[in-house]
Amino acid sequence: MPSPAEARAGSALFSPGPLGPLALANRIVIAPMCQYSCEEGLAGDWHLMHIGQLAMSGAGLFILEATAVTREGRITPGCLGLWSDEHEAALARVLAAVRRHSAMPIGIQLAHAGRKASSEVPWRGGMLIPPAPVSLGGWVPLAPSALPHAEGEAAPQALDEAGLARIREGFVAAARRAHRLGLAAIELHAAHGYLLHQFLSPVSNRRTDRYGGSLENRMRYPLEVFEAVRAAVPASMPVGVRLSATDWLEHLGTPAWDMAQSIAFGQALGERGVSFLHVSSGGISAKQQIPVGPGYQVPLAEQLKQATGLPTIAVGLITEAEEAEAVVAEGRADFVALARAMLFNPHWPWAAAARLGGQVSAPPQYWRSPPRGLGRLFGEAKIGMR
Ligand SMILES: Cc1cc2nc3c(=O)[nH]c(=O)nc-3n(C[C@H](O)[C@H](O)[C@H](O)COP(=O)(O)O)c2cc1C
Repeated sequence: MPSPAEARAGSALFSPGPLGPLALANRIVIAPMCQYSCEEGLAGDWHLMHIGQLAMSGAGLFILEATAVTREGRITPGCLGLWSDEHEAALARVLAAVRRHSAMPIGIQLAHAGRKASSEVPWRGGMLIPPAPVSLGGWVPLAPSALPHAEGEAAPQALDEAGLARIREGFVAAARRAHRLGLAAIELHAAHGYLLHQFLSPVSNRRTDRYGGSLENRMRYPLEVFEAVRAAVPASMPVGVRLSATDWLEHLGTPAWDMAQSIAFGQALGERGVSFLHVSSGGISAKQQIPVGPGYQVPLAEQLKQATGLPTIAVGLITEAEEAEAVVAEGRADFVALARAMLFNPHWPWAAAARLGGQVSAPPQYWRSPPRGLGRLFGEAKIGMR
């Protein structure tokens, strides 16, 4: 970890960095966070407040929450979607308002929940909602195989080739909409036990066709989706992938997704022009055993960065400025993403810049806020009054 004096000499966290073709002002990424606050997938006033608040934080990039590419791909009835013109228009209204006051690049996570769809929102317990009666608001989840996420739950419906093609087209159409919306980057959600992760992991993929069995076959659908999305938007728009580097199921001694397979997947994505890897873990099984602690997923990002040479985002219980600084300064990852710490303190990057001697951008309305001695926190920001 750099000493405070070294950090002041030049904070790595507050140095600019390229995320594929996109230049970011610093290395802080706001991780995607579901808000469960939509009706029929439409962005609304909550998104204006939430994105607006975090867009004043000075982070280098904000990644919009898991956004469903088809209606049945939502995790919960409250999840954000981007599967129609109406969804695009709703998000356009929110983004236009945010952009009037913030130049922060905003990316989007495109997702399909697979067998974890039709869940209740977390503050109502998060359990599977059955498809009937319709008044409950649930639907039949789709998945690689007819295997439920949790024991005792109803099985999802296994996807056939037509279903796979339809969802792949959903990713492509949503990617085109994201580009039209002027979003700065796309992140495909291949983590946390959702559809693309369900294809990768032998825990959830028991298919006997060309999409199941060998590692090559299990990677096929996620790679097809990546290739189709990459081809659908200009090269100037980064397309990255969030993956779960491990299922954390080694203790079972049964087939599961692990780091060796993640490296093979990362390399295959690298060959296809992926712009970054966002390294998370877990989510496929309730039997996972995760060694949770500060920065617990940083070693996973570091291994993937070393093995693939790709730009990497580390995430997971990175809460302190000095921890984040060390991850970037020591070259363990190129960027750090924060989720809960940003909700707790939406000005986290300001506080981190103050500790590390960095500079962040802030709206002029707030330029008078820094405590004494931090006059240069917002760069050359100058205010005058009489
Ligand atoms: C409220 C909330 C919503 C989340 N939604 C998403 C999501 O939409 N997509 C995703 O990949 N991860 C999601 N996550 C996981 C976070 O992006 C992040 O990986 C995780 O919280 C660990 O980072 P942290 O310790 O900084 O919170 C969510 C986390 C929280 C707290």
